[in-house]
Amino acid sequence: MIQLRSVTKKYKNNKYALKNVNLDIQPGEFVFVVGKSGAGKSTLMKLLYREELPSSGTVIIGGINIANLPNDKVPSLRRCMGIVFQDYKLLQNQSVYDNIAYVIRTMGISSKEINARVTGALKVVGLLDKMKAKPTELSGGEQQRVSIARAIVNGPPLLIADEPTGNLDPKNSLEIMQILDQINQKGITVIISTHDKSMVDYFRKRVITLDSGEVIRDVQAGTYA
Ligand SMILES: Nc1ncnc2c1ncn2[C@@H]1O[C@H](COP(=O)(O)OP(=O)(O)O)[C@@H](O)[C@H]1O
Ligand SMILES: [Mg+2]
Repeated sequence: MIQLRSVTKKYKNNKYALKNVNLDIQPGEFVFVVGKSGAGKSTLMKLLYREELPSSGTVIIGGINIANLPNDKVPSLRRCMGIVFQDYKLLQNQSVYDNIAYVIRTMGISSKEINARVTGALKVVGLLDKMKAKPTELSGGEQQRVSIARAIVNGPPLLIADEPTGNLDPKNSLEIMQILDQINQKGITVIISTHDKSMVDYFRKRVITLDSGEVIRDVQAGTYA
């Protein structure tokens, strides 16, 4: 599903954020990307959702070299992936329902179908009872669950989460990881960047370790270190 070949990323300061990264991620995998702050985790994620372009090398998703994708095709690439951020990025003045529904409102489907999909996504994250609430009325863990519902409402084959538990306490972190694990068990490929050692050690998934932009370790059913 995803192939990175000799991917290097330098920002304007000319320092390597990623250096000669080669990776293959198969459909249905659950992958943790770990490493210290500044190791290149967010850069790797941004290359996958084409927020950034590689300085050299290729990023291939579903057979497409996404660097060659014209700008007007980027929205259709993004529709094939759900993205979850550390800070949730919810619209504060909109209800939980609308935060999720707006993703699919431009797709030309009926309001009945929109309702069915939003309700379905809220069920996955266990927040049906909060659909009329505003984000400000929710805990951090609940806000992250809304952002996960928003990410999956489209039914994407791939979910990318950059430090999804970075602002959460251990109990909420575990709940979020369990939801992401359940989503993966439905067949969705899940890629999570984190530096939460206890979560990585608990779930025993594939662990890719970045250090100064280089992949220094890539193990199945692994631990953090
Ligand atoms: N927009 C940017 N401009 C310049 N340097 C950046 C930018 N984004 C990240 N970097 C640098 O790239 C390196 C990797 O950063 P990042 O991918 O955010 O790491 P992580 O997510 O693991 O903390 C760091 O040295 C960081 O300072
Ligand atoms: Mg980061």
